[in-house]
Amino acid sequence: MSRVVPPTEPNLDAAAAHLRAGGLVGLPTETVYGVAAHALDTQAVSRIYAAKDRPSFNPLILHVPVEQANLAALDRAGLVRANALDPEAQRVVERLSERWPGPLTLVLPKGPRVPDLTTAGLDTVAIRCPDHPVAQALLRRLDQPLAAPSANRSGRISPTSPQDVLEELGDALGLILDGGPCAEGLESTVVHVGPAGSVTLLRPGTLDRATLERLTDGPVHISEADPARPRSPGLDHRHYAPQTPFLALPTRCGDLPEPLWRRLRERASRASVIGVLCWTAEDASRVPRCLPGVEVHALALTHHGDPHEGARRLFSTLRALDALGADLLLAEPCPPAVDPHGLDFALRDRLRRAATALHDEP
Ligand code: TXA
Ligand code: MG
Repeated sequence: MSRVVPPTEPNLDAAAAHLRAGGLVGLPTETVYGVAAHALDTQAVSRIYAAKDRPSFNPLILHVPVEQANLAALDRAGLVRANALDPEAQRVVERLSERWPGPLTLVLPKGPRVPDLTTAGLDTVAIRCPDHPVAQALLRRLDQPLAAPSANRSGRISPTSPQDVLEELGDALGLILDGGPCAEGLESTVVHVGPAGSVTLLRPGTLDRATLERLTDGPVHISEADPARPRSPGLDHRHYAPQTPFLALPTRCGDLPEPLWRRLRERASRASVIGVLCWTAEDASRVPRCLPGVEVHALALTHHGDPHEGARRLFSTLRALDALGADLLLAEPCPPAVDPHGLDFALRDRLRRAATALHDEP
């Protein structure tokens, strides 16, 4: 059985030894917990795919210590091929890597030391430098980067506490280092840097588009809006899903247009317990009145609507809803902010992948 241990020096040494021997370790980061293995050891990496039941076409992110978190050092280590980037792209990578350590992953030309298994056969590699003291302390003890996808079974809710990791991956890990609850709560923003320094957002995260545009001093394209742009193999299928049927409402419960309201009532009449994800505490107190005759448990993502709080609590709240034993889960939308690609864009992205839209349900 995996053990959750505090990040003491002896436990960090034990985790490093376990990784060197090809084992898996539960790793805290500021975004979500990862399941880590030595990234250049194909046997260790294959254990990640097996533990997560992850499709082999979905590449992993390499995590590096702060000392290695720049283009020149990544190139020297054989992780990235800097000369495959033109000078403008190199400049953009240098600007972006100023945000390391932090919740940013850069997709760059793959260097010669990275095995094909780690990148699922792609000629690019995803690199990130996590902003968590335990992750950094572990990385510094090793002479290789760590491959670390989120420590959930494939398709399930990402873990934001060591207990979540234990629940998800049980026996597969040697140790789970306890780094406390994750400060950000959503996975890193994934960005591809291409010819002439063109920047494409592959996965939205807490580092938002406006911040990236300020950093790079140029436009950031959204991959989903443009089929010609690079995509993230892991984002094309359903994700973050609770096990309970989960429907996303296009408006707050009480504001649904009549046909959808009828559809929801019909669906709710077959349920005895319903869990509802609400945006604010006030929304959560209003919702039960919308669905009379059913036992409703409404959980709020935020006290008063702070998107950072919503991001931090999203996955733990989805887990709490899933644990209710309800017949049906509903999500009210999180309201759009002024900036359409701000942090709430990342929140809506995760909800869209986790739930079926009420109007799409057969
Ligand atoms: O915050 C995070 O990034 C967390 C923590 C543990 O660091 N990790 C994480 O890993 O979210 P994972 O494997 O759950 O998600 C990685 C995403 C996937 O959507 C994958 O397809 C994409 O990054 N990705 C990895 N390598 C890629 C590449 N070479 N090109 C495009 N997308 C890539
Ligand atoms: Mg994941």
